[in-house]
Amino acid sequence: MNNEQLIDLVGQMTLEEKTAQLLQLTSNFYEGTDTQGQITGPMEEMGITQQSVYASGSILGLSGAQAIIDVQQAYMEKSRLGIPLLFMADVVHGFKTIFPIPLAIGCSWDTQLAEKSAEIAARESAVSGLHVTFAPMVDLVRDPRWGRVMETTGEDPYLNSLFAAAFVRGYQGDNLQEETDRLAACVKHFAAYGAAEGGRDYNTVDMSERNLREYYLPAYKAALDAGVEMVMASFNTVDGIPASGNEKLMRDILREEWGFEGVLISDWASIREMIAHGAAEDDREAAYRAIRAGVDIEMMTPCYVHHLPALIASGEVSEKLIDEAVLRILQLKEKLGLFDNPFRAANPEREREIVFSKEHRQVSYELATKSAVLLKNANDILPLNPQAHIALIGPFAESEDILGWWSCEGVKADAVKLGTALQERLGTDHVHLAQGSGVHTITSEQIAEALEVASKADLIVLALGEDSEMSGEGGSRTDIRLPGAQLELIKHLRSTGKPLATVIFNGRPLDLHGIWEESDAVLEAWFPGSEGGAAIANVLTGVVNPSGRLTMSFPQSVGQVPVYYNHFNTGRPLNPQKTEERYVSKYIDSPNDPLLPFGYGLSYTTFEYGSLDISSQELSNELPLTIKVKVTNTGERTGVETVQLYVRDVTGEVVRPMRELKDYVKLELAPGETGTATFTLSEAQLRYHHSDLSYRSDKGTFHVYVGSNSRDTQESSFQLV
Ligand code: IFM
Repeated sequence: MNNEQLIDLVGQMTLEEKTAQLLQLTSNFYEGTDTQGQITGPMEEMGITQQSVYASGSILGLSGAQAIIDVQQAYMEKSRLGIPLLFMADVVHGFKTIFPIPLAIGCSWDTQLAEKSAEIAARESAVSGLHVTFAPMVDLVRDPRWGRVMETTGEDPYLNSLFAAAFVRGYQGDNLQEETDRLAACVKHFAAYGAAEGGRDYNTVDMSERNLREYYLPAYKAALDAGVEMVMASFNTVDGIPASGNEKLMRDILREEWGFEGVLISDWASIREMIAHGAAEDDREAAYRAIRAGVDIEMMTPCYVHHLPALIASGEVSEKLIDEAVLRILQLKEKLGLFDNPFRAANPEREREIVFSKEHRQVSYELATKSAVLLKNANDILPLNPQAHIALIGPFAESEDILGWWSCEGVKADAVKLGTALQERLGTDHVHLAQGSGVHTITSEQIAEALEVASKADLIVLALGEDSEMSGEGGSRTDIRLPGAQLELIKHLRSTGKPLATVIFNGRPLDLHGIWEESDAVLEAWFPGSEGGAAIANVLTGVVNPSGRLTMSFPQSVGQVPVYYNHFNTGRPLNPQKTEERYVSKYIDSPNDPLLPFGYGLSYTTFEYGSLDISSQELSNELPLTIKVKVTNTGERTGVETVQLYVRDVTGEVVRPMRELKDYVKLELAPGETGTATFTLSEAQLRYHHSDLSYRSDKGTFHVYVGSNSRDTQESSFQLV
């Protein structure tokens, strides 16, 4: 259908049909299924008629080719105007082949592989009947207490923007109508959900507009520039107004300024939640505020369906607003080719062939190896010596709970377990297993067994972590250490005096107290996905040399949070040579710096940097700078170094961060090999939002830093003229 025909179709719809088109429900409301998908919000009595259900526009959470075909068929038979349903779900890091959690994917610094993971997730979802994924989530996060930190790619606006665009390209491809194995993507959560106060989910967000634009908005914008079809409003308030009713955010910035013409959806019940926020008296006012803000689809509450007709009748809301919203939804359906084929790629037979295929799992494996971050490796105890006897102990030694939150159709039992994979590689007679403790509990029998197994080994590998319920939506924590039972286990094993390598499976940067000082080596595995055990076993044994780099700082303790690399200097910065000074910006009981900085990660080899070669002391609009550095692999294994370029604008109209990531280059180097990282830095990369919100650069002195992480760098400087 062309646009004229779609407009004509809107014209044929009754007001009730139009408002119902704006309603999204879980599938249990529909004939042909009793499944309802993942429930992540209140399931209140909706009080809606079957008529509204059969005119509604989209379903969330259902998947499976046959189930979707059945529901669509039953629906189409009843649909007066033959308008197909849209099927949407949270395909966040894979459909059934589960990839590492997005925070881990970020640590790969590999946007191409991230794109590939989204393409595979789309292929599996599309053949299983889905049309839209509620991804990518691109919220910038500086607070590891927030459970949803596992869904972000980290704390940096530039890197998050690169990943946002890569995920959108991967999900959507180039042409949704032709490429039926792709999904429409929905970037979320607009806006700034990652800045929830205290890291408590759904909590208030309050920040200056300048801060919002400088750090939080760029990744959503990058998704839009990559052509994302949908945007989801966040749960939080922004400057005192819930996002779902925030006209400035949605109408002024998203639609007017950025020109977004796609569909805007609420989060689960977030329109009705304006009442609890204190921004709407009742459902009627909530509907009024949301439709005026430009929210097209209402997820799982009936404010629109019940109240838009009356609001239009009373003249408080113009019918034009509803027509525009409906048209956008129909346009998306058309883009997905649903008017021609409402079942699109849904195909039970193909679904059996390609979902969770070996080829897909191979990409998941590769991404998991690249996402793992080696945090510590004293005395080079890793990689494991294949001749050694290994005691693999801990609640994650044989755990299937390594997919992480939002693992869609992923089946825990399908995940490759670390113990199985390690025994396959090193032999059952060399890898001795014990559970040691549960995630939260420990018994004297478990301790005795662990000590017994450890006594036979040359080296202990401890597999610890958070279970997947400890992060994700509604998974905020105030204490981000591992549970006490696991810290007790590590103490017992430390007392054996044997070398100890700890692998952690988890969904957030942790406070590593109790692990860091007790372990010789620490490997951050995150929730590595379906092939997690295989990937981590290959990293531990050195088949793969770890190359992941942190995209969020690991705090010394929760008291430092938020702690992030691109902070300001303050008027009284701490002099590291005079830490005893009192009247400076510091803690009296902790360093200011995080335990592990942004960009950090070790390798089984070593890299030596040559000196910085900067093409000029001056940069101008016409003449960008070239910055080069030679890097040599001085160790004995091939390895990948992520060479990072940071800049500091020393004096700005508005104070500028101590460092900001501007670019990075990954160099794969054989032993003894030297490579060159070459960066080009232009004036455009030095722009920022000024106090009047204009986006431009300031002339003056800039420092440039190049190195292996945001802390360990070499420095040079130049003038912007
Ligand atoms: O997509 C999610 C969102 O991220 C959080 N609330 C529920 C939505 C649908 O499941």
